[in-house]
Amino acid sequence: MSFLSGKNILLGISGGIAAYKSAELLRLLVKQGANVRVCMTASAQEFITPLTMQALSGNPVHTTLLDPQAELGMGHIELARWAEVILIAPATANTLARLTWGMADDLLSTVCLASTARLIIAPAMNQQMWKNVATQHNVNTLKERGVTVLGPAEGVQACGDTGFGRMLEPADIVRELENGCTSSALLHGLKVLITAGPTREPIDPVRFLTNRSSGKMGYAVARAAAQMGAEVMLVSGHVALDCPVGVRRVITESAADMLYATCEHAKQADLFIATAAVADYTPVDVADRKIKKNAATLHLEMKRTTDILATIKQEYPHLFTVGFAAETHDLMTYARSKLERKNIDMIAANSVAGGKAFDQPTNALEVVWKNGHTSLPEMDKQQLAEALMQLVAAQYNQRKLAQHDND
Ligand code: CTP
Repeated sequence: MSFLSGKNILLGISGGIAAYKSAELLRLLVKQGANVRVCMTASAQEFITPLTMQALSGNPVHTTLLDPQAELGMGHIELARWAEVILIAPATANTLARLTWGMADDLLSTVCLASTARLIIAPAMNQQMWKNVATQHNVNTLKERGVTVLGPAEGVQACGDTGFGRMLEPADIVRELENGCTSSALLHGLKVLITAGPTREPIDPVRFLTNRSSGKMGYAVARAAAQMGAEVMLVSGHVALDCPVGVRRVITESAADMLYATCEHAKQADLFIATAAVADYTPVDVADRKIKKNAATLHLEMKRTTDILATIKQEYPHLFTVGFAAETHDLMTYARSKLERKNIDMIAANSVAGGKAFDQPTNALEVVWKNGHTSLPEMDKQQLAEALMQLVAAQYNQRKLAQHDND
């Protein structure tokens, strides 16, 4: 039976050109057996009439917060209680901002605030508005709060631009809903261990060697894994980022500390994802007093650190392990050779030619595994992390199935 059958769905429509698709969306939801009520913002009514939505849903359309007549029927609190799912499609940039800030000055925002229903949004807007840091910040905040975001899709837009910002097609939204938005529960019950950020290799009590890793990608991966239902442990170097909601974190200093903490948590993990930029070398001796600038030159003797990823895979061969590779050239060749050399299950490689990707909001990845490869194009790091984690979950599940067949 469809996830939608008998479900009380409040379809919220905000004011964008994609509102014309909401009529088809409503028709498909009703066809799947859902009880649908519609709430339209004032600007949505500029694009499509409440009468159309009333005819398709078989219910009066809710448009205003302070209408005594409407409140006599199903008032806003009743509507908030009635809804099991609130689906906002299209969700404009303005709607995302209002949801993020918890505004309650129109019916749709008030109902969202007053409801405990699952909130699912299908954003639609100009591609530049979608890319804007303010919008991305709002989307990520909403995701952190457990809101499910479907799309947007890439393509030619009504305004003539091309890029991400098109609302998903109604049939695609309904398919996601029918599956119970299961991509958001793909890692349910699994323990995911992640390393992130840079390490600090001490030289003396006041100095250390480090690198340009901001930890953003690793934190985005941790957030994505938690949103997909995993229990996430993050072993992180020092970064200027808050711990994602629902993630446990331990902060480490050097490569040796990170190795120790990772080994401690690997015992319980099902998946290990190494995103950290671990120093490959560390000073042989650490001065116990501050080094004074007496000499004209200073020589530091360095020794190799232990490879955390390779060590963990060796110690815990059952762990599904994913590595990262930052390369300035020959991306695929190095990615494949690291996959083999470290004996890991997957590797996500990105280009850092000319300092690219460091501390940037966007990135692109080439994801490689034993018998396959896929390219994830340049996008916001959070979306990229989600796309990566979907691939990781798919490969992990395939391996589990194969093991099951062999047993
Ligand atoms: N890694 C690790 N411990 C190390 C070095 C690297 O766990 N001491 C992990 C990184 O987190 C990443 C992967 O190994 O997932 C690849 O790291 P990278 O430094 O790019 O590759 P190396 O194998 O060290 O090769 P090179 O530095 O020569 O490119």
